[in-house]
Amino acid sequence: MKIQIEDKEFECMLEYDQIKKRIRLIGIQMNVDYEEKVPVFVGVLNGSFIFMADLIKEIDISAEITFIKVSSYEGDASSGLVKKVIGLDYDLKNRDVIIVEDIVDTGATMGFLLEEIYKHKPASVRICTLLLKPDALQHEIPELTYTAFEIPNDFVVGYGLDYNGLGRNLKDIYRAIHVPSET
Ligand code: IMP
Repeated sequence: MKIQIEDKEFECMLEYDQIKKRIRLIGIQMNVDYEEKVPVFVGVLNGSFIFMADLIKEIDISAEITFIKVSSYEGDASSGLVKKVIGLDYDLKNRDVIIVEDIVDTGATMGFLLEEIYKHKPASVRICTLLLKPDALQHEIPELTYTAFEIPNDFVVGYGLDYNGLGRNLKDIYRAIHVPSET
């Protein structure tokens, strides 16, 4: 099914059932990896709110959850200008932190965020991202431990991800259809 958001047309790329199955597996892995620990899940708003809600339901060890906000994006092209982190007031000292992100594109946002989080002297930091665009990645991120799906360099919306603020409420994930430019 195709959908239209403002000037862009999108087609379904990942259905909710597929996403749920993958999240269940990540949850199982985390329950093992953090068996003796009480990790703090740090969700990156706005994009991660649905992913976090589904992921945390698969976690059956003790865990805490908090959210922060950092935005670096205007429209559909990464600006590279990362703004400041809002809401990083949770005590992360000596804690095992799991950053939950909707998508890692160039990795610039994550690089900045990691720097800020390390200032709080956590015991460990790992990243869990719903989507990763490996071909767009420009920064090494050794903390990237859990990736639900690797995707091509398409622009995607749905399941928390937006295009100019729209599309976050879509249950599935959609990719922008490239229309060949007229000559
Ligand atoms: P990065 O700093 O280039 O890794 O970009 C990360 C941020 O850009 C994500 O947290 C998203 O908010 C946004 N972003 C990157 N790619 C997409 C996309 O395909 N759709 C929607 N948002 C995206």
